[in-house]
Amino acid sequence: MKAPETLLEVRHLSYGYEEERLALDDVSFSVNKGENVALIGHNGSGKSTLAKLLMGLLAPNEGEIFFFGLPLDRKNLYSIRGQIGIVFQNPDNQFVGSTVADDIAFGLENACVPQKEMQGIIESFAEEVGMSAFLGHEPQNLSGGQKQRVAIAGVLAMKPSFIIFDEATAMLDPKGRHEIATLVAKMRKENPDLTILSITHDIEEANRADRVLVLHSGKKVYEGKPDAFFGNPEIYEPTGLGRPFFYQMKDALLAEGIALPSEVCDLDSLREYLCR
Ligand SMILES: Nc1ncnc2c1ncn2[C@@H]1O[C@H](COP(=O)(O)OP(=O)(O)O)[C@@H](O)[C@H]1O
Ligand SMILES: [Mg+2]
Repeated sequence: MKAPETLLEVRHLSYGYEEERLALDDVSFSVNKGENVALIGHNGSGKSTLAKLLMGLLAPNEGEIFFFGLPLDRKNLYSIRGQIGIVFQNPDNQFVGSTVADDIAFGLENACVPQKEMQGIIESFAEEVGMSAFLGHEPQNLSGGQKQRVAIAGVLAMKPSFIIFDEATAMLDPKGRHEIATLVAKMRKENPDLTILSITHDIEEANRADRVLVLHSGKKVYEGKPDAFFGNPEIYEPTGLGRPFFYQMKDALLAEGIALPSEVCDLDSLREYLCR
């Protein structure tokens, strides 16, 4: 078997806004090509600090960050940024065009996509995020959730091989979140090398990831499969995080004397089991 290709490596990263307290404390992890990794943690656990360090907006006190084997330093920052798609928490900071269509076009123009192909790409991604009817609208007049869909379309249209979502769906309602998740899943199916690091509050999204990283008080307290985290109260309870709906159901059934067999491991298999 071929060794996995590491796209992001974070080594012993620490950062403190104040001298006596670290917001991020000796955190190490890596993300391999084709993986879908979710980084979760309670408010104040250090997620945004880590996101800012990964984007080169803060410089670490200690530790190193490598993208594609290159250290994230002043020399490499722009070439690295050009290779990753980033969807930020606050969509207001990422609009440049005067219409939704211009905005989705912006990255494509920078990437020298031929004018002929551009219209089709813009229309198809606007459609994917449910914003077809708004292509001529001014981004400023959209709702928060609509703005975020446009920002996501703009990044996805670039077809980056590595996307970092920084609380990107926090503004959307559950339905909107589900639509974006479905779209990303479809893109991953079409391109198995598409790599995702999602910094998120959404435990349902984290539960669907290949791997989760859990931050608590600036420290990494778990790294591994979601079920080994959410399925183990000793590990997840101290982090103050909620539990995905599946585990709540599982506990409720157990309280009624119904123990689920091990092959029932998510909502789909639970639905099937209960309908049998
Ligand atoms: N600009 C700042 N100045 C001082 N402390 C900060 C600042 N931003 C965040 N912090 C502190 O750093 C810690 C981590 O915060 P943050 O990275 O925003 O966590 P999260 O995104 O997980 O909610 C918290 O204790 C927070 O109070
Ligand atoms: Mg945050």
